[in-house]
Amino acid sequence: MGFLVKKRGFLAPLLLALLLVQRLSAVVSALNYTSYRQVSSMRLERIQRHLDKINKPPVMTIESPDGDIIDCVHKRKQPALDHPLLRNHKIQRNPPERPRVRTLKEDDKTKKSNVEEGVIRGSWQTWHRNGTRCPKGTVPIRRSTVHDVLRSKSLFDFGKKQAPISLARRKDAPDVVSANGHEHAIAYTGSSQEVYGAKATINVWDPSIQVVNEFSLSQIWVLSGSFDGSDLNSIEAGWQVSPELYGDSRPRLFTYWTSDSYQATGCYNLLCSGFVQTNSRVAIGAAISPVSSYTGNQYDISILIWKDPKIGNWWMSFGDNTLVGYWPAELFTHLANHATMVEWGGEVVNSRANGEHTSTQMGSGHFAEDGFGKASYFRNLEIVDSDNSLTAVQSISTLAENTNCYNIESSYSNEWGTHFYYGGPGSNPLCP
Ligand SMILES: *[C@@H]1O[C@H](CO)[C@@H](O)[C@H](O)[C@H]1NC(C)=O
Ligand SMILES: *[C@@H]1O[C@H](CO)[C@@H](O)[C@H](O)[C@H]1NC(C)=O
Repeated sequence: MGFLVKKRGFLAPLLLALLLVQRLSAVVSALNYTSYRQVSSMRLERIQRHLDKINKPPVMTIESPDGDIIDCVHKRKQPALDHPLLRNHKIQRNPPERPRVRTLKEDDKTKKSNVEEGVIRGSWQTWHRNGTRCPKGTVPIRRSTVHDVLRSKSLFDFGKKQAPISLARRKDAPDVVSANGHEHAIAYTGSSQEVYGAKATINVWDPSIQVVNEFSLSQIWVLSGSFDGSDLNSIEAGWQVSPELYGDSRPRLFTYWTSDSYQATGCYNLLCSGFVQTNSRVAIGAAISPVSSYTGNQYDISILIWKDPKIGNWWMSFGDNTLVGYWPAELFTHLANHATMVEWGGEVVNSRANGEHTSTQMGSGHFAEDGFGKASYFRNLEIVDSDNSLTAVQSISTLAENTNCYNIESSYSNEWGTHFYYGGPGSNPLCP
C-alpha cells in the first residue's frame, strides 16, 4: 500500500476529493448522484490509475456541446491494442468483403418512400456540432472521468454489463422476472441457423430513467454459445440511456462484447481493450442527435454487424455504410466460427427501488400498439447468411417478460420488411 501512496503523493488524491465534492452540486440534475460522497483517497488513486490506462494521450481534443470530451487518439495508441491477444495486431483498414445486398429493389423502395414521407431522418452525433474533426489517422474516443467510474458499483464493474437472463430460462418460464431485474421486449431468430451478421434500422428516443443505476437500451445482439454455460459469446450495438455509465440521460451509440457470458471479458464501448476502431468521425459512447419526438419527426440509426468471411473479424457499420471498426476474431470462441442467434429489441433494468416496478421507459415509453410516431420501432431486420448475403429476416419470434410493462408487436410490409414496434412505460396500474 505504501508504494501506491508514494508514487503520486497524498496531495493529488486529496485535492481531487475536494474538487469532487465541489463539483457534485453542479452535476446533480434530475437524478440523484449523491450516493458516492464518501470516497477514500486510496480509491481515487486506484481509479485515476485505471483512467490513465484507458484514456490514451490525445493528438487533439474536441469539446462536445453536451459536455463530453472527445479525444482524438492515434489509431495505433487506441485501447484495443493493449489486449494481450492483439499485441502484434495489424489494424485492418477495410474489410475485404462487405455483405452483398440481395434485395436491392426493396432497398431502393425503402429509401424513396422515406424521402417522400419526409418524416424519417437519419440521426447523427452531437459532438459533430463542435465543427472540429479528428485528424486523419486518429480515432475519436469519449474520455472517461472519475465521476463515470464513481457512479459504477466498483472499478471492476465499470463499463461491464450484468449478465442478463438466459434464453433457455426465458423459454421454460417466460413469466419469471429475471434475477437481475433485466426486462426485455425482443425479437429473435431460431437457434438452428448459422448466422454471419445482422442489420436493423433503429428508431432513436430518449426514454426517462427512474434511478441512476437503471438503464434503457435498444440494440442488436449477435450471439453464439450457450446461455446456461459460461461461454456465451455476444456482440452488441445500438443506443442506450445509462445515467450510471454516462452521467446524463441522453441516448448514446454503444457497443458491447463478451466471450464468457458477461463475466471477465468484454465491456461497453472502448472501456476495455478489444474493439478496434477505424473511423475518425464516429465516437462510440457519444450522444446521438436529433432524437424522435412524439407524433413529430422520427429519427433512426442503421447498424450492421457482420463477419468478414476472409479474415474472420466482426465489423460494424453505422448509418449509411460508415465503417466504425471491428471486433477481432481472436476475442471470441464460438463467434470465431459463426453466430447461432440474433436478437433485436429493448432491455431495461427494473431495480424496484421503491418496492414497485420501475417507471424507467423502454423505447419511447409507449406500448407497441400505439404505432408510428408514438411507439419506437426497429425496421428492415436483416441477417447475413453463409454466402455473405444480406437477406430480409423471414420468421422471427418475439418475447416480453411482462407485456403489461413493456411489449412488442412484429409485422411485415414492403417498405419496412420485417419490423416491429416495442416498448412501454414500465410502472402503471397493470404493472405494479
Ligand atoms: C439523494 O440521495 C440521498 C441519499 O441516498 C438522500 O439523502 C437525498 O435526500 C437525495 N436527494 C434528492 C434531491 O433526492
Ligand atoms: C470545440 O472544441 C474546442 C476544443 O476543445 C473548444 O475550444 C471549442 O470551444 C469547441 N467549440 C464549440 C462550438 O463547442
